[in-house]
Amino acid sequence: MSEHVHLTPLDRISINDAAAWHQVVAASMAHDLPGVPPPDPGQIHAQLTNPTLDSHRLTWLATGADGVPVGIAGLRLFASPGRDHLAEMELHVDPAHRRRGAGSRLLSAVVAACRTENRRSLVVTAPAESPGEAFCDRWNFRRALALDHLILRLDQMDETDADRMRRLADAEHPGYRVTGWTGTVPDDLAAAFATAKNAMNDMPVGDLDYGSVDWDADRVRAMAKVIADRGDTLLTVAAVHDDGAMAGYTEILVPRGTPTRVQQYDTAVVPAHRGLGLGLWLKAAMVRRLRAEHPGVVEIETDNAEDNVHMLAVNRELGFRSYRRTCEFQLDVPTT
Ligand SMILES: CC(C)(COP(=O)(O)OP(=O)(O)OC[C@H]1O[C@@H](n2cnc3c(N)ncnc32)[C@H](O)[C@@H]1OP(=O)(O)O)[C@@H](O)C(=O)NCCC(=O)NCCS
Repeated sequence: MSEHVHLTPLDRISINDAAAWHQVVAASMAHDLPGVPPPDPGQIHAQLTNPTLDSHRLTWLATGADGVPVGIAGLRLFASPGRDHLAEMELHVDPAHRRRGAGSRLLSAVVAACRTENRRSLVVTAPAESPGEAFCDRWNFRRALALDHLILRLDQMDETDADRMRRLADAEHPGYRVTGWTGTVPDDLAAAFATAKNAMNDMPVGDLDYGSVDWDADRVRAMAKVIADRGDTLLTVAAVHDDGAMAGYTEILVPRGTPTRVQQYDTAVVPAHRGLGLGLWLKAAMVRRLRAEHPGVVEIETDNAEDNVHMLAVNRELGFRSYRRTCEFQLDVPTT
């Protein structure tokens, strides 16, 4: 039975819009991602109202006949050269209002916007074996990348684990030193950091038409500003070679507020410095830093492409354990 649904494009997100968005996302995540903490209304407001790096966002709210929020869709349109073909969707329908066409109505609005904005690739993430997967199959998205999500429970580390972590963090790596910063990279490391960031462009992305970005010092500063403006904290730990090159780095995003779970962002080791254990070293140093600077954090979540065997091996060695899987779907946007 289809439900009368009214779609409203949200031009300026008010506090009430953010509250409606939160209501839908929290109900949807509780159903499909039990145990994954949803963003709070303040985080949602900050995410939807602050500018993103090199992209802009379109948003829609679906309401039922009585004005009750039933679904949301967000569309991130990338603007940087190399990614201006790409759009990324977020789509949720409240479980109490599913299977009545709301998701399909929102998707139609999203696909129409992709056409207007000249996007050939629309990507979305769905939990494995979920209604989201069935919906993507129904609308002819293809499975482009399978991701394994892993968690490291800091509060469940015993003395042996803590000892192992300390040894990994303190290991000697002749020719390299470890450094770190919070937020924006220090000026003397900015150019080397941008060069290392480009190493992320060879991260496995399966069949995703994800494009690539060229990092320079201005861009890494701009990214740090976007994160700071929405109230989140970015921690970076990096390995610097004696010749001044940055050999690798790892980033953790600490959401605003008093979070117990933080997200792994990039970890990259530049090709010329691979095979030396630097990834393990950097990530162990980051765990130590996190425990010292953010003692309230108890979980680190990361996701890796299922075929990214090296990164998965590093994470397992550190004590990360698989706890859920997702799939990235891609729609090659129909032109007619
Ligand atoms: C995916 C989602 C947005 C679908 O919303 P919805 O309003 O239920 O979608 P629709 O009613 O328009 O469904 C359209 C078709 O998709 C398929 N579908 C949707 N949910 C399904 C399910 N649980 N099982 C099997 N098929 C399903 C069906 O073919 C359905 O048509 P039908 O009901 O006539 O059989 C909703 O389940 C959701 O919010 N999931 C969690 C968030 C998520 O995974 N988002 C990312 C994926 S887009």
